[in-house]
Amino acid sequence: MIHRFSIEAFPQTKETEAALAALTSDREFVKSKLTIHFGGMPRAAKHYVDNPSPQFIIVEENGSSDDIHRGLEALAEVVEPGRKVIVIGTVNDVQAYRQLISQGVSEYLVGPVTTADIAAAINSCVKDASAAPKGRVIAFIGGRGGVGSSTLAANIGWTLASNLQEEVIGIDLDFNFGTMALSLNLDPKQPVLEALTDAERIDPVLVERFLTEHGPNFSVLSTSGSLKDMAEPTIEAVDRLIDITRSMAQYVVVDLPRQWNGWVNSVLVQADEIVVTANPDLASLRDTKLLFDWLKARRGGLLNRLVLNKADIAKRNQLSGKDFQDTLGVPASLTIGFDPGLFAQLANNGQMVGEGAKSHKLNEQLRQFAQVLGGRKGGNIGPKQSPKLLGWLKRPAKSK
Ligand SMILES: Nc1ncnc2c1ncn2[C@@H]1O[C@H](COP(=O)(O)OP(=O)(O)O)[C@@H](O)[C@H]1O
Ligand SMILES: [Mg+2]
Repeated sequence: MIHRFSIEAFPQTKETEAALAALTSDREFVKSKLTIHFGGMPRAAKHYVDNPSPQFIIVEENGSSDDIHRGLEALAEVVEPGRKVIVIGTVNDVQAYRQLISQGVSEYLVGPVTTADIAAAINSCVKDASAAPKGRVIAFIGGRGGVGSSTLAANIGWTLASNLQEEVIGIDLDFNFGTMALSLNLDPKQPVLEALTDAERIDPVLVERFLTEHGPNFSVLSTSGSLKDMAEPTIEAVDRLIDITRSMAQYVVVDLPRQWNGWVNSVLVQADEIVVTANPDLASLRDTKLLFDWLKARRGGLLNRLVLNKADIAKRNQLSGKDFQDTLGVPASLTIGFDPGLFAQLANNGQMVGEGAKSHKLNEQLRQFAQVLGGRKGGNIGPKQSPKLLGWLKRPAKSK
């Protein structure tokens, strides 16, 4: 299996650093993004104070088990929940091992370690699919058809991958008329709907076959447009596709069609972030309000985001951002003006804003919004847990 993990490692010795550096030569990890920061556990604890957490964090601490314990406490305060932590150390006793595992460390390796040891440790963290680190799912839906939701989804996927250097999979769930591939100037090998015919069959190998690569960090599952008569996918199949893709990439950007059915609902409930795009007209406002009420009732305290697109389309007769804020109770996270010239040109060239209009202010706005959606600034990152309990790392103890 080819992993698309984001991995950051903090070695303390040159030997460990070399073993880590060779990881991405391993076929399984060629698509993973590995960053090495020399300096061990103390460096890691400092690093995550103002940097986002990757899926895997590998830290070396060659001190005593107390040093490891203290280092973990410091890390727990700054690392986002749900990340896998692998510790490399020199303490070699079962007691210490058990204690670390019970604190939630995913794997503990006694140094010196080889590249194969590290690969095996990562693999053992994801053996059980349900324990695999989960990438973040960002779903886009239009408050109406034609409001620009797909345009925004593709641009955010591109921005996360190209400007923020994250591994992203885009899934276009508009099986017949989806434009994610078209807008990125891609020709999908196989339509995504065919991957969904049998939930049981969906695994990373199958998904890999359906992915069309846009660049080193961005691949999409889309359609080249098709009116082929095929059965609607089951909720189970769509859920499984998303589950598998989020184990393959740090971000999954889902473009939902303007439909209302079981699998659309299921994606809306599960996604980490929902972006509803609306235009400044009454029908958009009504439908966006319906959507927001529905989402609020099912997604607890998670924020749902509003994007007001084509905001100045009708100058005089349009509704304002304030009308939306008063009705929905949230301000627009992003307001985009009506610019038919720009969007027609980009669409015709199969380019994203960051490609064809790099110096346009929208490029920077998209970058900032992608950061928010990515959980970097004010995103939905779950409740902060007590660092004392290392709750973010906890899993049942196992014996060696
Ligand atoms: N801010 C904008 N100004 C002008 N045209 C836009 C803007 N945003 C999107 N569009 C255009 O609107 C059309 C519909 O966009 P699309 O993303 O397919 O909408 P949806 O997915 O909501 O149906 C496309 O032709 C797109 O290029
Ligand atoms: Mg669309």
